[in-house]
Parts: sequence; structure tokens; C-alpha cells
Amino acid sequence: MRLALLGCGTVGSEVVRLLHEQSADLAARIGAPLEIAGIAVRRHGRDRGDLPVDPALFTTDPLALIKSDDVDVVVEMVGGIEPARTWLVEALRAGKSVVTANKALLAEDGGALHDAAAEGGADLYYEASVAGAIPLLRPLRESLHGDRINRVTGIVNGTTNFILSAMDASGAGFAEALEEATELGYAEADPTADVEGFDAAAKAAILASLAFHTRVGAADVYREGITEVTAADMASAKAMGCTIKLLCIAARGTDPQGRETVSVRVHPAMIPLSHPLASVGDAFNAVFVEAEAAGQLMFYGRGAGGAPTASAVLGDVVAVARNRLAGARAASESAYADLSVRPMGEALTRYHISLDVADRPGVLASVAGVFARHDVSIATVRQGSAEAGSGRGEDADLVIVTHVAPDAALAATVRELRGLDTVRSVTSVLRVEGGV
Ligand SMILES: NC(=O)c1ccc[n+]([C@@H]2O[C@H](COP(=O)([O-])OP(=O)(O)OC[C@H]3O[C@@H](n4cnc5c(N)ncnc54)[C@H](OP(=O)(O)O)[C@@H]3O)[C@@H](O)[C@H]2O)c1
Repeated sequence: MRLALLGCGTVGSEVVRLLHEQSADLAARIGAPLEIAGIAVRRHGRDRGDLPVDPALFTTDPLALIKSDDVDVVVEMVGGIEPARTWLVEALRAGKSVVTANKALLAEDGGALHDAAAEGGADLYYEASVAGAIPLLRPLRESLHGDRINRVTGIVNGTTNFILSAMDASGAGFAEALEEATELGYAEADPTADVEGFDAAAKAAILASLAFHTRVGAADVYREGITEVTAADMASAKAMGCTIKLLCIAARGTDPQGRETVSVRVHPAMIPLSHPLASVGDAFNAVFVEAEAAGQLMFYGRGAGGAPTASAVLGDVVAVARNRLAGARAASESAYADLSVRPMGEALTRYHISLDVADRPGVLASVAGVFARHDVSIATVRQGSAEAGSGRGEDADLVIVTHVAPDAALAATVRELRGLDTVRSVTSVLRVEGGV
């Protein structure tokens, strides 16, 4: 079984290492040895340390390698949309199986890859694209295919989980925690894709597509990052017996006409400490799946890093190699349900709102009136300790948690609260998930 490896960076070099170290076992498991036909890289002369591979295998011409007659499987570990899309479409149309870790491409234009795979009769596997080492996509696309998934809630970005966990543990602000993450190698020099939620949104699209048998792209995912989460928000969460996590949430729902829909979103949210995702610390990932018959399932582990990601890549390589030897092909894309994706404004969420209000009679009624006007029902109201105001009399903290309501109604409520003369400031607004 001849492999074309595209990319030999963090993930690719570990794949090369594992292919070397485990060659005998892999051959026994597959029924044929795995051989590297070539490794496409950008810089031919780059120092690749003591990588156990013949230097003559490196090439800077990925297309020629992919088109080579003696390549059976193309393993893409480069990333980005182009030229990766052109390479993989070419490979799949030519009937070569593809294993890829490229979440950005799958979320942007997974349809083009699936169509090319169907055209060429080839396999397309991408376990490593979501949550690194954690076996997650295979359970969604195989083990749970007899069930009906209602909701997927995940922590799928290690960098942001490290930052939020650090903020929770030390009371640090976002900037300070980001600095620590960068120093320790958990955040890249440009952390935008992680801290603004783009990476998690791409993974949310992939998860939702598999869970709900519907093509969901990155553009369908509502996205908010963690840059606005403050130390005060975290303190507020702690006071409620909660913590804050960047969650990706994909959920089945029904629109006002009774049609089934799906909503897919990524945003920071408050979750109670009793929620299984609350204890996922450091840079770990975890995905919580709720299915009709299976009930609640949790997948946990290392979501990134060279070796963990290479483990997932190699698992896929073994699967596609076995299929080829057996003359078989994995089940093709399942997108028959074709559910419509609901806009965020219609998604049903809950808010936790902290207000700094004037401590005088009638304030509570005026605040409650705003919620009522937007048809948002209040679950709990808590009044914090009164403090001396800045020359305008006494202030009081008011913490309000709502029941479930459309996100647009909640957002409009907060906008109106900001304009009330009895509200000095809205100090924190967080969505709430789980039973707070
Ligand atoms: N790193 C992780 O923890 C992780 C986890 C899950 C998924 N992924 C995904 O895995 C993929 C690879 O990530 P990575 O972290 O390994 O990236 P990386 O360390 O930056 O490595 C990228 C590799 O691609 C090569 N490359 C770049 N442009 C190329 C071009 N135009 N033609 C040929 N080769 C090219 C580079 O060549 P040179 O070596 O010559 O520079 C390098 O070997 C991405 O899709 C990423 O999203 C990564």
C-alpha cells in the first residue's frame, strides 16, 4: 500500500515516525506493508532533525506525487483551503483514497471533497480534523448510525480551554492568561483562529454535518470567541457554582412551521460545575453527545499535538488501506436529512446577566418590565451586596438568570437594559448551558 504524504510539519513528522516505528504491526493489521511513495513539503532544504526517512522521498511537487501511478492513498497534513482542495479533489477523482486532518477545508468546502470521492469511488477519512486523538468522527459516522443524535456539545479547542481554565484557576484576565498560553506553547504567535472561535467553528460544522446527516459549512455556524470574557465574568460564574467554557453546540430543533432544523454555534458559555464538560481542564478536549437510545456519551482526550493527531491519521490510514485491499469502500457521505440551519437569533438559549443598578425602590420592577416586554421569562434573581456608588447614592448588584428564549429576544432585552436610567451598567452577559 503506497502512501503519498503531503506535509511533514507538526503532524506529518509524527506520522512518518509512527509509520517507521510500527511498520511491522501496521503491516500485520492491514495485511500488506505501508510504504511511503513520497513526502511533499514546501521547503526542500528544511532541517528535519533525525526523521527516520530517506531524504530522497521529499518533493516540492505535490501534484506530481499525487498523480503518480504507484500511489494508493494520499495523506494530507498541510492545511488551508488552496492548494489543498485542488490536490485532494484530483486524488479522489482519480480513485485514490484520502486521509486528511484539514478541518478548515472540510468546513469550507467539504461538499467538493465528498462529491469527488463519490465520483472516483474513493474513501475520504478525516478523524484527525476534529479533537485530535479522540475517536469521535468514526463513532458518529458508524457506531451511532442506528441511533438519532439530538445534541452535540463540545470543547474542541485546546488553546481556548487552556486560557479559560487558567482564568478560572488564578483569577487572571484574558490577556494575562493568553500570555501564559503563548509562553507554554499552547497558543500560536497569531492566536486569532483559536481565540476568535474560527477553529472551533470549523469543527462544529464537521460535527453537525455528521451528527445530523446534513451539509453544514463554516458559514452556517454562529461564532463568538473568548476575547471579551473578563475576570469579572469568571468570578460571576464561580459565585454561581459555574465555570466558563468555549462551547461548540449543535442541536436539533423545530422551526415555527414545525419543520426539523439544526442550530450550530460556538460561543463562551457558563456551565455548572456538575456538568461533565466543566472538569475538562488544561488544553484537553471533550465532546458530549446526547442520542435518543444511547443516552449521554462523553469523548475525552488530547485534541491537538503532533503525536495525538498522528494517532488519528494513522487509524484512518489503516482503515482505508484495509478497504482498498478488500476492494471495498466505506459508506459515502450521509447528507440525506438536509435540515435547514436556523439563524442564531432563533436559537433557544439562556442568559446570565449581571447588572449594576441604583439601589432604590422600583428598580426591580423596571428591570423585570424589560424582560416581560421581550417575552423573556426570568428563572432567578439574586441581589448582591450594596456598595457605595460614585456620588449617585447606593448601587446594588443584580444577577438575573433567564429561562430558555430565542437568542434575539435575549439580546434585545440586554440592549434595552443598557438604556435604562436605573441601570448603571450591564457588567456581564453570558449564555448559560446545562442546569444552572
Ligand atoms: N498541529 C496540530 O496539533 C493539529 C491538530 C489537528 C489537526 N491539525 C491539522 O493538520 C494539518 C497540518 O498541521 P501542522 O500543525 O502539522 O502544520 P505545520 O506544522 O505548519 O506543517 C505544514 C506542512 O505542510 C507543508 N506545506 C505547507 N505548504 C505547502 C505547499 N504549498 N506544498 C507542499 N507542502 C506544503 C510544510 O512544509 P515545510 O515543512 O517545508 O514547511 C509543512 O511540512 C492542518 O490542516 C491542521 O489544521 C493539526
